[in-house]
Amino acid sequence: MYTITLIPGDGIGPDIATAARRVVEATGVSVQWDLQEAGMAAIEKYKDPLPPQTLESIARNKIALKGPLTTPVGTGFRSVNVALRKEFDLYINLRPAKSMEGVKSVFKDIDVVVFRENTEEFYSGIEHYIDARKSAAETIGVVTRTGSERIVRAAFEYARKHKRNKVTIVHKANIMKFTGGLFLEVARKVAQEYPEIQCNDKIIDNMAMQLVVNPAQFDVIVTTNLFGDILSDLCSGLVGGLGLAPGANIGYDAAIFEAVHGSAPDIAGKNLANPSAIILAAGMMLDHLGEVKAATKIRNAVTAVVRDGKHVTRDLNPASTVGTLEMADAIVRSLEHA
Ligand SMILES: NC(=O)c1ccc[n+]([C@@H]2O[C@H](COP(=O)([O-])OP(=O)(O)OC[C@H]3O[C@@H](n4cnc5c(N)ncnc54)[C@H](O)[C@@H]3O)[C@@H](O)[C@H]2O)c1
Repeated sequence: MYTITLIPGDGIGPDIATAARRVVEATGVSVQWDLQEAGMAAIEKYKDPLPPQTLESIARNKIALKGPLTTPVGTGFRSVNVALRKEFDLYINLRPAKSMEGVKSVFKDIDVVVFRENTEEFYSGIEHYIDARKSAAETIGVVTRTGSERIVRAAFEYARKHKRNKVTIVHKANIMKFTGGLFLEVARKVAQEYPEIQCNDKIIDNMAMQLVVNPAQFDVIVTTNLFGDILSDLCSGLVGGLGLAPGANIGYDAAIFEAVHGSAPDIAGKNLANPSAIILAAGMMLDHLGEVKAATKIRNAVTAVVRDGKHVTRDLNPASTVGTLEMADAIVRSLEHA
């Protein structure tokens, strides 16, 4: 029996979390959910976006499934997602993007995995106005040798384990000669320890262009925090949108699994949210726990439902009237044959 912290989250979070819970339980893996709150839901209840009992639960269980959390833009409290990544040193942000049959997208043959450094650089929260009139502001991005080495190593280890052929290092070392330069130097050095895996590097702007023109040339991508954040959403878009993109935040002692998308306030409470991303994230979570058979079943079941196209939400089929939990139930039914 696994005890897993479940944070439903904000906006569409509670609906898609319920959906994921149903699918995980239907695999037969024995799970006890330790329900906790964070984000706006926690502010309403505890006046704290990240209450201590939520942190204690993750520290105790070492594994969590999390719905999206709303972060106010420009003002208000700092991102709870970033705080969680820092608190548990979840240095790997792992986001696979794979083409799925039945999804409208420009390309059909994409299978990339983005490794984004998750704790350093411009997301460290070191920022301030530089004068009293607030006429200018600065954000300081710190890149360390240790932080760079461990994320690049994680990408190469993943490539080795999953028999992936190539790792692409993405950077802006031509302009940011110190932070970008350090990341690239460390990455090239780590790459030498994996001679069986091809390695190349690309400057971020060229990378963005190459990804939308010829994404099939990429396999595993490793990069710093800000570039990784943007590129992984770009990759989700290439395979059909945020509704299908799962993500994992992994550290030495804990791991948090989630959808790449946010709380989607525009569709919250309307039963329109596609639950696939968080369900696929739950699959990654089961993989991480060593429940490989159940994880594979989840992936196959989602793939089958999406391919069939009859029980999918409106983002995948504009004519559809299928809601979040109906799609989840179709995935549950599909598990039997997966
Ligand atoms: N990991 C997280 O918790 C996380 C990630 C990204 C954004 N956010 C937060 O979410 C809030 C909203 O952000 P946003 O609007 O920029 O991005 P978003 O991902 O919430 O939504 C972007 C667009 O994609 C659609 N969409 C997203 N998920 C969908 C799903 N499952 N099914 C169907 N359509 C879906 C939305 O309706 C919207 O049109 C912000 O407060 C942001 O900080 C949280």
